[in-house]
Amino acid sequence: MVHAIEAFTSKRLKNPLSDMLARRALQLLAGHQRRVLSHPNDMVAREAMLLGATLAGQAFANAPVAAVHALAYPLGGHYHMPHGLSNALMLPAVLRFNAPVCEALYLDLATLLPQPVGPGVEGFVVWFEQLIADAGLPQSLSDAKVPEQDLPMLAADAMQQQRLLVNNPMTVDESAALALYRSAWEGRV
Ligand SMILES: [Fe+2]
Repeated sequence: MVHAIEAFTSKRLKNPLSDMLARRALQLLAGHQRRVLSHPNDMVAREAMLLGATLAGQAFANAPVAAVHALAYPLGGHYHMPHGLSNALMLPAVLRFNAPVCEALYLDLATLLPQPVGPGVEGFVVWFEQLIADAGLPQSLSDAKVPEQDLPMLAADAMQQQRLLVNNPMTVDESAALALYRSAWEGRV
């Protein structure tokens, strides 16, 4: 889902084909994630997830990922956190950060979610926060045992990911990265 969202809002190389792939990917993934969590042996739901993951991969092969990934990589490197978890931990903060320039795109994606969401970009973000909570994942960097004093080091490390940061719709400098880590450390607003 992060692959689809970041491809759909990428500042560089986004195009009608990557948009089509990203939209269908998010629809499939969002539409079947809860079913797979509650019924892991449902092969129809799992097939939909696999197809969604494949289409999302094709989307970001054409329109590259951005700040969620740039900020997630240091978490994987320092704490051996799985890629999906590190992305989930950074997603809500980055969505809110990008909202001023991505509102129309996020509202478009919100129409693809399986249930109606609350108003505005905030409703879109809260849908993902609720899914993260219901999936039993840590909901903040503090829940995931990331030491608060490490946040400046993580922000400095994220600056190494310029190949990803240049794709982000909002500029992320080191102070913005630190604010995003702090927001993710504190968790759900
Ligand atoms: Fe990824």
